[in-house]
Amino acid sequence: MAPRWWLLILFLGCSVLQASSQPNSRGFISIDCGLMGEESYVDDETNLLYVSDAGFTDTGTPYNISAEYFRPWRSRNVRSLRSFPDGARNCYTLRSLVSGLKYLFRATFLYGNYDGLNKPPASFDLYIGVNFWTVVNMSWWGSDQDNKAEVEAIVVVPHDLVQVCLVNTGGGTPFISGLELRPLKMSLYPQATAELGLFMRSRRNFAAINETIIRFPDDPYDRLWYPRSDATMWTERSTTERVDGFDSGSFEAPMAVLQTAITPLNASGSINFGWDTEPQPNNPSPGYLAVFYFAELQVLDGNASRQFYINLNDELWHNRAVKPEYLSRINLYNEFPSPRQNHYDISIKATANSTLPPIINAYEVFSVITTTNVGTESQDASAAMAIKAKYKVHKNWMGDPCFPKTMTWDSLNCSYATASPPRITSINLSSSGLNGDISSSFANLKALEYLNLSNNNLTGSIPDSLSQLQSLTDIHGNNPNLCIGDNSCQLAAKRKSKLAIYIVVPLLVIVVIVSVAALVLFSLRRRKQQQGSMNNMATIKPQNEEEMPTSHGGANDSLRLVENRRFTYKELEVITNGFERVLGKGGFGRVYDGFLEDGTQVAVKLRSHSSNQGIKEFLTEVQWNHIL
Ligand SMILES: *[C@@H]1O[C@H](CO)[C@@H](O)[C@H](O)[C@H]1NC(C)=O
Ligand SMILES: *[C@@H]1O[C@H](CO)[C@@H](O)[C@H](O)[C@H]1NC(C)=O
Ligand SMILES: *[C@@H]1O[C@H](CO)[C@@H](O)[C@H](O)[C@H]1NC(C)=O
Ligand SMILES: *[C@@H]1O[C@H](CO)[C@@H](O)[C@H](O)[C@H]1NC(C)=O
Ligand SMILES: *[C@@H]1O[C@H](CO)[C@@H](O)[C@H](O)[C@H]1NC(C)=O
Ligand SMILES: *[C@@H]1O[C@H](CO)[C@@H](O)[C@H](O)[C@H]1NC(C)=O
Ligand SMILES: *[C@@H]1O[C@H](CO)[C@@H](O)[C@H](O)[C@H]1NC(C)=O
Ligand SMILES: *[C@@H]1O[C@H](CO)[C@@H](O)[C@H](O)[C@H]1NC(C)=O
Ligand SMILES: *[C@@H]1O[C@H](CO)[C@@H](O)[C@H](O)[C@H]1NC(C)=O
Ligand SMILES: *[C@@H]1O[C@H](CO)[C@@H](O)[C@H](O)[C@H]1NC(C)=O
Repeated sequence: MAPRWWLLILFLGCSVLQASSQPNSRGFISIDCGLMGEESYVDDETNLLYVSDAGFTDTGTPYNISAEYFRPWRSRNVRSLRSFPDGARNCYTLRSLVSGLKYLFRATFLYGNYDGLNKPPASFDLYIGVNFWTVVNMSWWGSDQDNKAEVEAIVVVPHDLVQVCLVNTGGGTPFISGLELRPLKMSLYPQATAELGLFMRSRRNFAAINETIIRFPDDPYDRLWYPRSDATMWTERSTTERVDGFDSGSFEAPMAVLQTAITPLNASGSINFGWDTEPQPNNPSPGYLAVFYFAELQVLDGNASRQFYINLNDELWHNRAVKPEYLSRINLYNEFPSPRQNHYDISIKATANSTLPPIINAYEVFSVITTTNVGTESQDASAAMAIKAKYKVHKNWMGDPCFPKTMTWDSLNCSYATASPPRITSINLSSSGLNGDISSSFANLKALEYLNLSNNNLTGSIPDSLSQLQSLTDIHGNNPNLCIGDNSCQLAAKRKSKLAIYIVVPLLVIVVIVSVAALVLFSLRRRKQQQGSMNNMATIKPQNEEEMPTSHGGANDSLRLVENRRFTYKELEVITNGFERVLGKGGFGRVYDGFLEDGTQVAVKLRSHSSNQGIKEFLTEVQWNHIL
């Protein structure tokens, strides 16, 4: 009874953890990094549930900012953070996304002297999946350690799982305070495609009431609309009427954003604002995308009209005049990134026949992120992550297994082809302190050519699926509690105490030597029937004492000699020169070329436990032969 209870409790524990790392019903994921002492809380301002980052990352150290930087007016999200002193790349894994859907990613950083060193990191890099997102340079938000940095991107995610990674570029220890993910309607921001993401530079709401940031629930996507007001430059306008079209089309904006606007102080004046190009090391020529939001908030009488042009750096940006309708949203935007400039000056000027000055409600500015890097083939990547999770492999197993090449996971090699995603081709986890049974995820690595799990503490039986792998697999050696099928498990358990004493001797596990025979003699005998076929080797019978005399009755002495001899795995390694040359493979295993000490060429067949009976007896025998 007791063990069953344990199972139940463990199971429940897992599902709770699982639940907290699932998106909410809107698909929102809101992570308060470094949150400790509680799993989650409901944010006062947005009523959204924020969860601890425990289910999303397995590295880093949680911290609170120092007490002097606690500000009652600031969102709770920035009070704690997670710092990543170890490893070049550390990641958050976001699951249960919808592949091909557009998402808004937002990361927040507030140093707040969490480490007591009074020295925020100079910079580090941020990636979405395998694509560069931005440099996080705290001094862009002011050198004051009280400043909050916030970065946002809109990207189409290629898989149902995305990692957000912090990469240490030598500019100090990366850290993160908050990470938020919001699904968007596909029709929004048509400039964002599978190849191109949008990196937000600015999102401003003119004449915001009470200078407040507008976000969820006013914005169903929880974008942050920062106030932009300047009573010395602009006349503020607002309405309480409903503005049409706020929630349709390619550029939705919250009603509250569209209900306020500015016009110039002078009827003949223009509206001017701008931004500087921010350099990104990985993208020297990003180009900008801008989206302007307009709605007429005044009832225009009779022959009054409001029409205007938008100029970028003193040149007409769009050659059609904008004429907003009363209480109806319209947008002006560029479809493709503008050519690179050092500074962007926007000037909105009334046309000659306009009786009223220009108006603007809000704007957004983005630079572009190329999202054309392709990560490890997704089944390989998921399998590798499952293996990592199962064995708690730390090493540098963070982020994408194969990409970039310079950050390929330790103990693993990949193949890179130009037209297809990288594949995992070899894994050497020998002597890695692995415990527990053998993960069936290894079998999902369909391009695997080499797998070495020797010298670990692996137990249980070998998954059937592993025998389907085309790879050379080595699980022998100091995996004392592995067994073949249920019966031999019991056998192994019974003899465990004795075995333990002799553990120096490698045990045969996944592969059982089924037979060894003299290839030359054999093929001579069979050539007439099965000329040149690989099946020559495959017909070698299991080395089973009852069967042997009958199956090869009358075979010549040299062959019998081989057949009656038992080989240890080590010996077979020598014979086959480390299982170097594969002669062929059947449904149940590979056949290797080899030479006996006397130079006789032999075919060695390695067979998985799943294929036949008679093996477990053989295995037991081999074990005892080894031990004695
Ligand atoms: C941060 O503060 C909270 C509340 O005071 C506490 O429960 C938590 O353990 C602290 N976290 C760390 C990393 O010290
Ligand atoms: C961070 O930004 C500041 C101000 O733009 C710049 O002077 C500094 O070189 C940047 N640091 C790094 C490491 O990029
Ligand atoms: C916002 O401003 C209005 C006046 O414009 C005022 O009546 C209201 O109380 C303010 N709200 C807050 C939350 O400050
Ligand atoms: C507005 O116009 C007046 C007179 O035409 C001028 O003196 C003043 O400087 C203008 N103000 C602005 C902000 O352009
Ligand atoms: C508007 O039209 C009226 C006559 O309908 C005219 O008296 C007035 O001057 C016009 N105003 C402007 C600004 O054109
Ligand atoms: C005002 O001028 C613009 C071009 O400058 C033109 O497109 C528009 O039709 C004109 N409007 C009127 C009412 O004449
Ligand atoms: C596999 O890993 C073991 C232990 O880390 C090491 O001794 C061995 O050389 C590695 N073999 C290969 C082929 O990388
Ligand atoms: C990966 O490739 C390198 C270089 O060819 C080799 O030294 C290493 O042993 C390989 N590792 C594995 C796990 O196969
Ligand atoms: C597996 O790795 C061990 C070293 O840890 C090595 O002795 C053994 O030869 C390897 N097996 C194969 C098949 O490469
Ligand atoms: C294997 O497991 C045993 C007990 O579970 C432990 O004492 C031993 O250190 C482990 N060995 C390795 C290499 O992890």
